[in-house]
Amino acid sequence: MLAGLPGTKTGKTGGNNQVDILDATAGNRTMWQTKNSENIIYIDIQKQLWVKPTIYASNEQTPFRDKQFHTIFYDPPHDYGDKPFDFNMGKVAVHKQWLRKKPFGHTYYGWDIYKTKRELIAHIWRAQKEFQRILRDDGLLWVKWCEIRLSLKRLLNIFADWRLLMKIHVKSPTQTWGNKQTYWLLFEKKLKGKQKQLFT
Ligand SMILES: C[S@@+](CC[C@H](N)C(=O)[O-])C[C@H]1O[C@@H](n2cnc3c(N)ncnc32)[C@H](O)[C@@H]1O
Repeated sequence: MLAGLPGTKTGKTGGNNQVDILDATAGNRTMWQTKNSENIIYIDIQKQLWVKPTIYASNEQTPFRDKQFHTIFYDPPHDYGDKPFDFNMGKVAVHKQWLRKKPFGHTYYGWDIYKTKRELIAHIWRAQKEFQRILRDDGLLWVKWCEIRLSLKRLLNIFADWRLLMKIHVKSPTQTWGNKQTYWLLFEKKLKGKQKQLFT
């Protein structure tokens, strides 16, 4: 299935043919203004998506080669357990309507994939470990986080091997539940003992 896909282990790589941006949790690509860029590989594990990913793959173990990407986007599930987060809180009527229209309902947020807090944390830990492998040393990792179940502080503990460069607070009403906030976080790798040259 992967044979010939540009940028994969089995496909042609190198030169301008290289696809070096990854959307590691593509979902239905709702966050993107341009839904299909030839510069981005979209992956997801969920089969009932309206927009099919470039390939179905888990971001915990990808088919990509070491240091393939210069940028990775990661918008993981932020909910877990058998019962979805109570979206009745506060001002989320719009959001509830939106979810009702989806054939996959709340599963979009991953609550039925990761049954416990421990499983969700373990997933995020394994994904960030894989990103350490497939991201270039000077690459950038964008992570979207919504605090509905896990605080930002707890999330940042999982990203101990990453340096937080930027924290953008998303203030849209559809991204805020009571005092639970949503952020875009920008990370770079913490490189141990490596000095870069400013000039050659
Ligand atoms: C919050 S949604 C992403 C929404 C997406 N960014 C958008 O713009 O529509 C989280 C997505 O992560 C996917 N996901 C969960 N575990 C995954 C894994 N191990 N590998 C890849 N995708 C995963 C889910 O199937 C779901 O589509």
